[in-house]
Amino acid sequence: MMDLARRVAEAADLVTVALDELLPRAEGPESRLTEAMRYAALSEGKRLRTFFALETGRMFDLDERSVLRAACALECIHAYSLIHDDLPCMDDDDMRRGRPTVHIQYDEMTAVLAGDALQSAAFEILAHPDTHPDGGVRAELVSRLAVAAGARGMVGGQMIDMLGVREDLGGVARMQRLKTGALIACAFELPLVIAHAPDFERHALMAFAHDLGLAYQIVDDLLDAEGDAALMGKAVGKDAEAGKTTFVTLLGVDAAKQRLGLLKTQTKSHLDPFGPRAEFLRASVDFVLERRQ
Ligand code: IPE
Ligand code: IPE
Ligand code: MG
Ligand code: MG
Ligand code: MG
Repeated sequence: MMDLARRVAEAADLVTVALDELLPRAEGPESRLTEAMRYAALSEGKRLRTFFALETGRMFDLDERSVLRAACALECIHAYSLIHDDLPCMDDDDMRRGRPTVHIQYDEMTAVLAGDALQSAAFEILAHPDTHPDGGVRAELVSRLAVAAGARGMVGGQMIDMLGVREDLGGVARMQRLKTGALIACAFELPLVIAHAPDFERHALMAFAHDLGLAYQIVDDLLDAEGDAALMGKAVGKDAEAGKTTFVTLLGVDAAKQRLGLLKTQTKSHLDPFGPRAEFLRASVDFVLERRQ
């Protein structure tokens, strides 16, 4: 477990240093924008998507620089999604990662623009020749991230979430798969593109990613219901207050935990074809899902 915690921390440091180099520096009259981008993207997130991408890269023996740049692009999209998710017109949150949200620290206009620019930065990073020498691979990376982030992925899920329609269990599972699952799946998908992995490995890892993403959002919803705001660095109790439908509001805390337990076993079993190569990914399931923050 110690080894795993160290690997997660190392992945977080790697991506923060790389993002610091890749993101534009504050200069000129637009410096307010670049400062806000950096404020959001360089703040202390758990960087789990980066960890998953780097571990997948190691499993397939990929060039670390390529995978790290893909992970940076993914973190830019994630950071943008959080800035916009916290806006008054969406979840209206004041705290994120233990600090004031971007629209509180700056203002709404800057928060919208910083999110926009982080989204562009993600594709700029992926499309750059340093990400991969083969233009075809770069185009595929761009396309995968675009689909995961867009109307058939994260943004589509956010729309369903914001509409506040009373979904049934199937509807909630679909919404979560889009809003959270799509970007988590991308942490595996991007390295798989670089690896040209055989179909059976690609399918197994994507099945793992989808179950993990769903489980991850159930944990997020459980923490919203019974977590500690100080540990989490963001407000709790917001989902019920906003009348959101989640696994927890539909099933109650106990049944949601039971479902999570089943999902954990199922998630890990998808890694069987990889044997010991997936040691750290397998161990990360409990580590990630037993999070308190
Ligand atoms: C928060 O994501 C939003 C969800 C999709 C649940 P994370 O829990 O990965 O947030 P950070 O990046 O660690 O702040
Ligand atoms: C947000 O889900 C998922 C995104 C696409 C940003 P939540 O709204 O539950 O995330 P938190 O709880 O604010 O981090
Ligand atoms: Mg939200
Ligand atoms: Mg939110
Ligand atoms: Mg939440």
